[in-house]
Amino acid sequence: MPHYQQPLDATRLPAWQSLVEHRRAMQGFSMREAFAGDAGRFKDFSLSGCGLFLDYSKNLINHETRELLVRLAREADLQAAIEALFKGEPVNASEGRPALHTALRRPVADRLVVNGVDVMPEVHQVLGQMTELVGRIHDGLWRGYSEKPITDVVNIGIGGSFLGPQLVSEALLPFAQRGVRCHYLANIDGSEFHELSARLRAETTLFIVSSKSFGTLETLKNAQAARSWYLAQGGSEAELHKHFIAVSSNKEAAVAFGIHEENIFPMWDWVGGRYSLWSAIGLPIALAIGMSNFKELLSGAYSMDQHFLTAPFERNMPVLLALLGVWYSNFWNAQSHAILPYDHYLRNITQHLQQLDMESNGKSVRQDGTPVGCATGPVIWGGVGCNGQHAYHQLLHQGTQLIPADFIVPVVSYNPVADHHHWLYANCLSQSQALMLGKSRAEAEAELRAKSLPEDEVQRLAPHKVIPGNRPSNTLVLERVSPRRLGALVAMYEHKVFVQSVIWGINAFDQWGVELGKELGKGVYQRLSGHEEQAAEDASTQGLIDFFRGRHRG
Ligand code: F6P
Repeated sequence: MPHYQQPLDATRLPAWQSLVEHRRAMQGFSMREAFAGDAGRFKDFSLSGCGLFLDYSKNLINHETRELLVRLAREADLQAAIEALFKGEPVNASEGRPALHTALRRPVADRLVVNGVDVMPEVHQVLGQMTELVGRIHDGLWRGYSEKPITDVVNIGIGGSFLGPQLVSEALLPFAQRGVRCHYLANIDGSEFHELSARLRAETTLFIVSSKSFGTLETLKNAQAARSWYLAQGGSEAELHKHFIAVSSNKEAAVAFGIHEENIFPMWDWVGGRYSLWSAIGLPIALAIGMSNFKELLSGAYSMDQHFLTAPFERNMPVLLALLGVWYSNFWNAQSHAILPYDHYLRNITQHLQQLDMESNGKSVRQDGTPVGCATGPVIWGGVGCNGQHAYHQLLHQGTQLIPADFIVPVVSYNPVADHHHWLYANCLSQSQALMLGKSRAEAEAELRAKSLPEDEVQRLAPHKVIPGNRPSNTLVLERVSPRRLGALVAMYEHKVFVQSVIWGINAFDQWGVELGKELGKGVYQRLSGHEEQAAEDASTQGLIDFFRGRHRG
C-alpha cells in the first residue's frame, strides 16, 4: 500500500528504535570536541548543489547519526513516496488529490499524465498567457481607463496567494524591470487598505485578485474595497476589466465579480496554496522581474526537484535537512526551528516558510486518521540577521530550550556599502560559531580574572557569563540571491517539509484546522453586528463581543 493510504508508524521501525538508543549515547556529545577530533568534519558534513552550499557540520550528529537517520528514511520507504509525489499520485489523501507543484517547473517537452490527462500542455499554456500579459504591461500596451500605462500592480490575496509571491518579488528586486511597482494587500484591515490606496492612482493601477478558491473572506472583502475605490476615483464599470484581473481555479466566482473571462488565469486543484508561487499565482513576481527571470526561478526549482529525485539520501539536501529536523523534534524534544536570513532581500523567507511548514506539517493524525505517535512540525520563527541578534538571539544562546537554526546568507551583495557585507557575513558565521562553541565556566572565570576582578566578584558573575554552546545550526550559502538560486532554495524547503510528512505519516497538503476559525468567525460577526442576539457559546467570547458592541453603540 502507498504511504498516503497506509502510512508506516515510524516509531516502530527498527531504525527509530536504534535512534532512541543512539540519542542516549549522544547525551554527552560535544560539537567542539567533534571538530577538534576530526579535521574532516566540515567536509564530511557539507555539500553543494543547485547553486547552494549546505554546511550541516554544526549539528549534534556523528557519522552513525547520519547513517541511522538515512536508514530511517529507507525503512519509511521514502524513495517510493517521493516518486509518488512526482508522478501525481493522490498524496493528499483527505482531499483525494495529487500535489503537483513540481509539474509547474517541468520543461515543456515533458509529459505528465494525471487521471488520463497530460497536464504539461496546460501548464505551459498558462505560462504563455502570463508572458503575453507581462509583455503588454511592460511595453505600455495595457492601458487603464484614461489610456495611461500601468505603473502599479496590487496583488490582493492572502496565505499562499501572498507570502510566496511577496517573498520572491521582493527578494529579486535587483532584477526589477520597467518600473512596474508591486504591492500586496492581504489582511482584512482597513488601515492596510487605506495606507496602500493613498499611494496609488486608480487610472494606472492593476489589481490582481489572487485566490485559488475565490472564496477567501479577506481577499473578497479587499477586492470589493478596491473596486469601490476604483469607481470613486473615476473608473467606470465598463472599464473595470482594464484594472482587475484574477488568478483562480473558481472561474465562475471571478466572472461574477466582474472580471473578464480572458483575464482569469487558471489554477488547478492539484496545486496547494502554499506551493503555488510557481503557477499564475506568481504573476506579481513575473510582473516585477520579467518572464525570463520568472522562468529562471522555475528552472532553479526544477534543478532542486531533480536533485531531490535522484541524489542518494546521504547527499540529498532536502532529505538531510528533513532528517535533522526529525532528529531534533523527535529525539531532542526541540519544539521550534529558527530561520535566520542574513540578507535584506530574503527578509520575507521566514514568513513564507512558516506557512509552508506549519500549515503543511501542523497535524496530529496520520494519513489514515490514526493519531501520530510522536511530535510533528515545529514552530517556525525567526527573522533577518543582524536585527535578531539584538532581540531574540539571547534566548538561542542562553535560554533553556534547544532551538535548531538555519542561517541563510549570500556571499555577494548587490549593494556593497563600504565593508558592510563583510560584517554581515561575519555576523552570520559568528552567530553559528557562538551557538556551537559557547563559553565554559573556566573560560568565563578566566575572562573575569583578566579584568582584575576580586575572586568573589568572579564567582558571582561567572554563572551569568557561561554560555552552554553545543546548539545546532545549518548554514546555507548562496553565491548571490538570483532567480535560479532562490528557486532552488524555496523548492528545497518544500521537499524538506514533504520528507518530514512521510516520516511522520501525515498529509502535508491539507489544512482542515484553519476552517474552524473561519466558520466560527461568521457567528461572531453576526453577533458583533447585532444580527444575532443569541449569546456566544462561551462567556469569554460573549464578553469580548459586548465590549465591542458597547463601543460601537456609543
Ligand atoms: O485558510 C488557509 C488557506 O486556505 C491557505 O491554505 C491558502 O494559501 C489561503 O487560505 C488562501 O486561499 P485562496 O488562495 O483560496 O484565497
